Amino acid sequence: MTNFPVEKIRADFPILAEKIRNKPLVYLDNAATCQKPQAVIDSIVHLYSHDYANVHRGVHTLSVRSTDLFEGARTKVKDFINAGHEKEIIFVKGTTEAINLVAQSYGKANIKAGDEILITAMEHHSNIVPWQILCQQTGAVLKVAPINLHGELIYDEFEKLLSDKTRLVSVVHMSNALGTINPVKIIIAAAHAKDIPVMLDGAQAIPHMTVDVQDLDCDFYAFSGHKLYAPSGIGVLYGKQALLEAMPPYQGGGDMIRKVTFAETEYNVLPYKFEAGTPAIADVVSLGAAIDYLNAIGMDKIAAYEAELLDYATEKAMQIKGLRIIGEAEHKGAILSFVLDKIHPHDIGTMLDSLGIAVRAGHHCAMPVMDFFKVPATARASFAMYNTKEEIDVLMNGIKSLIEVFG
Ligand code: ALA
Repeated sequence: MTNFPVEKIRADFPILAEKIRNKPLVYLDNAATCQKPQAVIDSIVHLYSHDYANVHRGVHTLSVRSTDLFEGARTKVKDFINAGHEKEIIFVKGTTEAINLVAQSYGKANIKAGDEILITAMEHHSNIVPWQILCQQTGAVLKVAPINLHGELIYDEFEKLLSDKTRLVSVVHMSNALGTINPVKIIIAAAHAKDIPVMLDGAQAIPHMTVDVQDLDCDFYAFSGHKLYAPSGIGVLYGKQALLEAMPPYQGGGDMIRKVTFAETEYNVLPYKFEAGTPAIADVVSLGAAIDYLNAIGMDKIAAYEAELLDYATEKAMQIKGLRIIGEAEHKGAILSFVLDKIHPHDIGTMLDSLGIAVRAGHHCAMPVMDFFKVPATARASFAMYNTKEEIDVLMNGIKSLIEVFG
């Protein structure tokens, strides 16, 4: 994309100037976590240097400033995903906590023995294990819609599994292990036709595309700040107001109450009902700074640039003999998972590191996906808006040299 300002963007990320083993860093582990622009780093420093106090609790000036910044970030998140109201934005630790919240609050209140929860075979462990725990607690049954060898959901099979017993569908928007982007609007419409609510795990999708929760019509959407150029330890659960209103609290403590006596407790209104305890104030504020930064570039431009990067990387990878791409969905985000003949993915990761290239090697918290493709692990290069075609060339040359020496 000729006019995407990648060099200007790169200059905003101080860590990209690091040398790793005396080589320029080539950071291609963005699906695990992405790096932070100076604006995000500065927002943390500024908050602690000038505006920090606890939120919602004080009448003093610093508490008011801190609360305004904190609630301002909630509005930025609301606008970023086009939610209808700030009440629908719950701050949590990350995607994992968001899914656990829905499982333990919505799930325990609405799902009973014999009911079914439907997921897909490409889920991250964080969209499997919370449902397994809920099934153990309630006697509900976890159903898994299969995928094909391209790493795509077999939609007809998914539809067949939407039964009279299905009480919730929870699907990954974009797979972290394969890059597959699921047809979530179609999935949601099919589930809603049977009055079944749908949760989307958006951890991987959110940095790569415009997400509009009203257009999608999803009932819950979860994502993590650290994959969206913000700090780790902060994330968001979006939920439709009517569902959240009817759900019991997930955790008890300060801030989530309106009135407490030893006899009974009256819970606070949304979104505070789900935000027990002092929140991650600086992380929330800097999530707002990350959103400002992304809005200034434009999510559609980022998506178009990353699509070019993925096409370029895929074309180059396909020319390498002995390299097999794992995950070849037609609709795919900027992830290239691969294996090499005779070289274990962990060795690929270690050897690429010696060239200054950071990729993730492992099961990517998606062991069932590895089992399906009959591989112990994959090496995964995952791209962000600050990556370049030159970096992809460095990766491909690195892979070729590994094959020459060890393959
Ligand atoms: N879920 C993260 C990944 O895909 C950590 O690497």
